[in-house]
Amino acid sequence: MNFEKSLRSISELYKSDKIEHGYIEIYDSYFKQLKNKKLKILEIGIADGKSLLTWSDYFKNSIIIGIDIHKINAVEKKLDRENIRIHQGSQSDEKFVNEIIKEYGSFDIIIDDGSHLSSDVKKSFHLLFPYLNNDGLYAVEDMQTSYNHFFGGNPFDLKYSSSHMNFFKHLTDSLNYQEIANPFYIKKKYDSKITNISFYHNLVFVKKGINKNESKEVLNHSYEKMKFKVKSNRNGSTLRYYFKYMVLYKTYTYFLFILNLIKKIILFRF
Ligand SMILES: C[S@@+](CC[C@H](N)C(=O)[O-])C[C@H]1O[C@@H](n2cnc3c(N)ncnc32)[C@H](O)[C@@H]1O
Repeated sequence: MNFEKSLRSISELYKSDKIEHGYIEIYDSYFKQLKNKKLKILEIGIADGKSLLTWSDYFKNSIIIGIDIHKINAVEKKLDRENIRIHQGSQSDEKFVNEIIKEYGSFDIIIDDGSHLSSDVKKSFHLLFPYLNNDGLYAVEDMQTSYNHFFGGNPFDLKYSSSHMNFFKHLTDSLNYQEIANPFYIKKKYDSKITNISFYHNLVFVKKGINKNESKEVLNHSYEKMKFKVKSNRNGSTLRYYFKYMVLYKTYTYFLFILNLIKKIILFRF
């Protein structure tokens, strides 16, 4: 018989609002295979400590680290447990976050349930993602603030705003960075470091891992180079293929590159 409590029943016990938000079943689908491992789990935002208590019961072999901008009374909130650590500081304070990183080294799961301000969510991600272990998960809750100008989001310019939702949408390009057929493409910070991004209602998951899959379509970001190589290998290198791919195709690519560059300059989009 299995006496282990489910994530849902533990969340109910502590009255975690992650149930009402609809997050628990989603977390369960990621966490059930991890629950007995020895992990370091960081949650931004402690409040009454309901989620820290939930993680503490569920991940019995793990260390649960909570950070909050406000002072949290561990005894009063019953957070004075062996596998819980709490620290006071802001998620966007680089010095404070670096102290946390120095103390714990790296993390297996990071959950951002802090201020939910776009600037804070993005800053914390930039500071902490490099210290997430491979196969680690980075979750951001309450993404609805991204669509609300009172929280630093932007409901008026969904496609081009600097909201954190847009940040994560654009991050999906890092999953397929090797396919980008732009010979002038410069490798970005998270290219090759992400293996999955999942969007749920108001919740985003980013899985860290080594993504070094090679493109079957482009060679060093060049479609024409790949075509020339494949055709020449198959049929022998001929002047015809060189002219077609390395001159005609390349000229067309350069033409489109310049056209898009002009468009970006006119629209101030970089
Ligand atoms: C939604 S509550 C956290 C709830 C908790 N994770 C749970 O599920 O039970 C948000 C918390 O984030 C904290 N917070 C707000 N701004 C912050 C910041 N810049 N850095 C760290 N914590 C912050 C607030 O003090 C508040 O306690």
